[in-house]
Amino acid sequence: MTDDGVSPARACLCRSGFEDMLARELADAGLRAGSPSPGLVTLGSGEPTNAMPAAGWAFASADLFPLATIAGDSVNALGGALCDWFAEALRGEQVATPWPCVFSAVDGVPGLGRRAAAVERAFHEKLSRRLGRVARLALAEASPGTGPVRGLFAVFTGFDSVLVSRDAWLGGQRRMADDPAAPARSYLKVEEAYGVAGGAPEPGQLVCDLGAAPGGWAFSAAKRGALVTAVDNGLLKGGALDHPLVEHLQQDAFVFRPRTGQVYDWLFCDLVEEPHHVLRGVLEPWLAGRWCRRFVVNLKFGRTDANALLRELRAGDSVLGRLASGARVRHLHHDRDEFTIVGASR
Ligand SMILES: C[S@@+](CC[C@H](N)C(=O)[O-])C[C@H]1O[C@@H](n2cnc3c(N)ncnc32)[C@H](O)[C@@H]1O
Repeated sequence: MTDDGVSPARACLCRSGFEDMLARELADAGLRAGSPSPGLVTLGSGEPTNAMPAAGWAFASADLFPLATIAGDSVNALGGALCDWFAEALRGEQVATPWPCVFSAVDGVPGLGRRAAAVERAFHEKLSRRLGRVARLALAEASPGTGPVRGLFAVFTGFDSVLVSRDAWLGGQRRMADDPAAPARSYLKVEEAYGVAGGAPEPGQLVCDLGAAPGGWAFSAAKRGALVTAVDNGLLKGGALDHPLVEHLQQDAFVFRPRTGQVYDWLFCDLVEEPHHVLRGVLEPWLAGRWCRRFVVNLKFGRTDANALLRELRAGDSVLGRLASGARVRHLHHDRDEFTIVGASR
């Protein structure tokens, strides 16, 4: 329920702890959020329905609209009510391809995840009996990527209440699987960023990785067969150390320049530096010089106002506005106090 006791019309999901930043991002787009739950910000029916930045939200991993609220006092009752609602919402629609059927629960309520899983099983049993062919095409996860999708999205906000939507905009954030050979957890960030970027380094492509140590991102590119120039005064470790496709240069990332005429397929940049310093000192010269085709750049907003930074990035006269195409800013599942930006050189 929203503050005024009315069922919400729209809900945005985010990482727990980042609700205020998401609410401020929504406010910048003219949307007034109700009081948030962990990992969830809801909007009332009076809010504009089409408001969203052109490249999508940064903090929201999903924007569910239009939303319904389903209530039930047992697993069976909720599973049945969800199945009835879904069957009714499907009326007149042909389902011939796999569709996402994604159940989740807000954080911070002990046992709610187990409740959601039990209702999900009850829902599937009922759907299989009623619409077997549709049920067989259900996928428990949305495919990688960002943009609008149609399926069933159910978010448990309490033991007896679930928010549901057939339509979602997805930001592309996902929990990734680790690789024991990866030398750092930040490996997961770049793996996740590929889904938002809509592509990953390919065999034989050239990658320049600025601030590469201990080598999580470099390892990720090299394991795909790309040739990596890893720039960092620090040491590489684990699977990145002595990798035949990784050349380690102990240089300053702000000073490093490609050889004349050299164009990298990918610029990676994950420097622990003030974000404006990275934007002006790395991204701007790399895009202006057309030294890379695509980029994945992580900006640590730790001591900066994240929403102010987001507004700056989205302004037409920002480095992205002037020099990038298809740029997307996301707070990834594996990001902490940081954004990851993906895009291409213009
Ligand atoms: C967050 S770590 C990078 C992690 C890396 N992406 C990985 O997956 O292992 C940041 C790195 O930036 C490096 N760094 C910071 N300032 C730098 C500079 N001016 N030139 C080169 N490296 C720098 C640090 O040495 C550190 O290794």
